[in-house]
Amino acid sequence: MVGSPFLSGCRRETTPFTPVWLMRQAGRYMPEYRALRARHGFLELCKTPEAAAEVTLQPVDRLGVDAAILFADILLVLEPLGIGLEFTSGDGPRIHRPVRSHDDVTRLAPVVVDEAVPFVFETVRLVRKALADRVPLIGFAGAPFTLASYLIEGGPSREFLHTKRFMREEPAAWDALMTRLSDITAEYVNGQIAAGAQAVQLFDSWVGTLSPADYRDSVLPYSRRVIERLAPGVPVIHFGTGTAGLLHLMKAAGGDVIGLDWRVEIGPTWQRLGYDVAVQGNLDPAILLASLGEIRRRVTEILEAVAGRPGHIFNLGHGVHKETPVDHVIALVDMVHELSAR
Ligand code: CP3
Repeated sequence: MVGSPFLSGCRRETTPFTPVWLMRQAGRYMPEYRALRARHGFLELCKTPEAAAEVTLQPVDRLGVDAAILFADILLVLEPLGIGLEFTSGDGPRIHRPVRSHDDVTRLAPVVVDEAVPFVFETVRLVRKALADRVPLIGFAGAPFTLASYLIEGGPSREFLHTKRFMREEPAAWDALMTRLSDITAEYVNGQIAAGAQAVQLFDSWVGTLSPADYRDSVLPYSRRVIERLAPGVPVIHFGTGTAGLLHLMKAAGGDVIGLDWRVEIGPTWQRLGYDVAVQGNLDPAILLASLGEIRRRVTEILEAVAGRPGHIFNLGHGVHKETPVDHVIALVDMVHELSAR
């Protein structure tokens, strides 16, 4: 990845600055998105390729970011399992029939990815056409642990107690579930790549809840299983939050770029991880609610810490908060470009 034109080329050969895109760069902080959402449910937007393509392109046009991120959700591919997926306003996703036993795993419906999410692949094709190679398109999926945590908890969680109990007390069911999720995810991501995604991001957003030993034994083999099955030649970004103690293991699981959240110091963390892997990060998204002067100070700190080394993608440590002023996001992208071009 560090040598690939997609990333190092961005910095030194094709454009003279650090590439920047943002996690959840589309979404509720944008008035254009809210206007569409006033008329359509979230799932409906995801399932209507013309609308999903429009939302994907909104931040590219408005913010000047260096990549488009497919508008979709990590849970879409799980809906056909028959778990009763719903996005309730305000509370995030709900799964009405959570998976809590070996029988529940056995009862999950078979999923034929091409038939389950044809709208996602169509969105990818529409976006690629509309972009006409202006910027690359990043596809994405949830990593097996984060997907399993939603299936088992039935929604967002702080402590992940059901998930941890299941993982430790039902090892055969855990293996069956994680293997299925790995295979669905690999097929889903490969479908996005076949449709035109030029890089892919694997979101293991909640993996930071685990000890290194649990990650190594119960999660790493499945994340590796996904990454090993992906079409070669397409950069893979491997992301989690709260992962300071897991980053070396996430690197071992695979990925060309490791996502860093704001809880780590990017300079020494990258040095420890090794410069044979690229890094993405790591501004605290809450900084975007502060003044432009403060944002500039924090951006400068990150850029100074990576010291122009090729293989850094500027990003937030997690998604854009819905309270974020759009002007601050636009200013952030400009600052990264300006300050990294010096
Ligand atoms: O530009 C983009 O990045 C948008 C595409 C995108 C969405 N979800 C749209 C979305 C991406 C990359 C995701 C990934 C996703 N979804 C993750 C991994 C990334 C992360 O943030 O950790 C996770 C854990 C989910 C599951 C999920 N979907 C949650 C927790 C929520 C609630 C979010 C919230 O802020 O309340 C969703 C819903 C969702 N997915 C929204 C969007 C724009 C908000 C839906 C709405 O309009 O009401």
